[in-house]
Amino acid sequence: MSTNQSWGGRFAEGPAEAVARYTDSQTFDRALYAQDIRASQAHARMLGRQGVITPQEASALVEGLERVRREIEDGSFVWRSELEDVHMNIEARLTELAGEVGKKLHTGRSRNDQVGLTFRLFVADKLRAWQEGAATLCAVLLDRAAEHRDVILPGCTHLQPAQPVSLAHHLLAYAWMFRRDVERLDDTLARVRVSPLGAAALAGTTYPLDPASVAAEVGFAGIYGNSMDAVSDRDFVLEALFGGSLVMMHLSRLCEEIILWANPAFGFVRLPDAYSTGSSIMPQKKNPDVAELMRGKTGRVYGALLGLLTVMKGLPLAYNRDMQEDKEGFLDADRTVSSSLRIMAGLLEEIAFRPERMREACKLGFLNATELADYLVGKGLPFREAHHITGQAVAAAEKEGKGLEELTLPELQALDPRIDDDVYSVLAYTAAVQRRETPGGTGPHSVSRQLEQLRGWLDLFHTSPNS
Ligand code: ARG
Repeated sequence: MSTNQSWGGRFAEGPAEAVARYTDSQTFDRALYAQDIRASQAHARMLGRQGVITPQEASALVEGLERVRREIEDGSFVWRSELEDVHMNIEARLTELAGEVGKKLHTGRSRNDQVGLTFRLFVADKLRAWQEGAATLCAVLLDRAAEHRDVILPGCTHLQPAQPVSLAHHLLAYAWMFRRDVERLDDTLARVRVSPLGAAALAGTTYPLDPASVAAEVGFAGIYGNSMDAVSDRDFVLEALFGGSLVMMHLSRLCEEIILWANPAFGFVRLPDAYSTGSSIMPQKKNPDVAELMRGKTGRVYGALLGLLTVMKGLPLAYNRDMQEDKEGFLDADRTVSSSLRIMAGLLEEIAFRPERMREACKLGFLNATELADYLVGKGLPFREAHHITGQAVAAAEKEGKGLEELTLPELQALDPRIDDDVYSVLAYTAAVQRRETPGGTGPHSVSRQLEQLRGWLDLFHTSPNS
């Protein structure tokens, strides 16, 4: 194999075929071409401003890079395996198109700081897309919640029926999670948007560069503080993968509920046909494969995070080729997070909730037991005693196969004479929901407030300067 034209000067022969394939990253890092070109154009302009190259040379480089971009986008660009990665493929073609001046692009720069800036630009673009996806999903959750303010279902602890809640409240719990995801990614973006360009190979460079102006030109907030840290830092990818892992964890919990709710034993939802599949052997089946797959794909994103943490743990300063392993995991995580957010938004838009089944389920679990205990406290009993009497009421009702609200007044009074017929309004399931108006509770006013807060936040997100 021929030697690499960028570093082949000291080599008599090129790498063995299998070795070239092993080290080749252009098969996947070509996904970063737009960010690499953006970064190189900013670098070229800065070299021109600083007098390292002439202004004419700077324009020729910027122009030439534009032509390379067009070739990549119209499919005529020929990717060459022996050029290893996206950076050297682009630079080689630039030199073919623009001539000798192309060889000046890499002045004062190393692939080590180049790949850092390129990948940071790429990760920042993807994180913005994740934020958009999570915000869209939030908007769907808000719409579905607003439609179902009056629907009640059993809220669970330990997956056992606990107290009735409104379906709106249940859905909004997820909206709050995805809002936190968006905010968390904002925090991460502040550290992603730092330019390492100027660190060169590891020690800085002798050319009079102006790294801050490159950072400003690509829209980043600032530059590195230490050149060795700059070229060997992959915290930004790890943080992004952690943010993606949390998005997937939230999606996966929602998937788990959808899978349970679709089981006829619950019957709380009917899955849209477009989001479910049948069985090749059991004709009656409608399987929640989409939710199952999403729950499963969560593992891939955790895998990317754990994989890169492991890559980084033993690396001495500064750049090491191991770090090239940061890309495939992130690319895969990006596909998974972006598509999962989109698919979940579509599924939730179309899923049919079954309020009658939810209401029936409230009756099965003595979900109004806490209401009876609180009622007795209102009549002057200490809570522990009220709890005990309510337990006896549950046992009596269970024996007769009734709900608490179906016990007669004499039956209830036999347990405690202070019980009156005003107890029945307290035992109504909807009343249990309506009375829980503590901040963030399931009461209708609290739910309206949550809807307002989340809508206000979404409006802000869509009008913020970063979006
Ligand atoms: N493809 C490499 C990566 O992704 C680029 C940097 C290579 N630098 C080097 N000196 N070999 O990490």
